[in-house]
Amino acid sequence: MPKLIVVTREGVETELDAGEGISVMEAIRDAGFDELLALCGGCCSCATCHVLVDPAGFAMLPPMSEDENDLLDSSEHRGPTSRLSCQIQINAALDGLKVQIAPED
Ligand code: FES
Repeated sequence: MPKLIVVTREGVETELDAGEGISVMEAIRDAGFDELLALCGGCCSCATCHVLVDPAGFAMLPPMSEDENDLLDSSEHRGPTSRLSCQIQINAALDGLKVQIAPED
């Protein structure tokens, strides 16, 4: 199972076994991190699943859609490696991906 490293807003790191085919948001939510709200359930319409991706992992991700890009623009905390975690599907190639839950807007 691919590993996913989640860093909380306070900087606490946790390594998860993440199932292939689910999203990073689902893996984080299923592991019980309640600071990732993911209010729209993964429909790419809320931006409350915003994460800051480690630069090495960010380079491996598929490009974002226009909708994801527009939603991220609504965040005050957008950075160069920001993504919406519901839009990243976990697969073996992303083993070891590290994401930090972005500050709340
Ligand atoms: S959960 Fe709403 S945009 Fe990702």
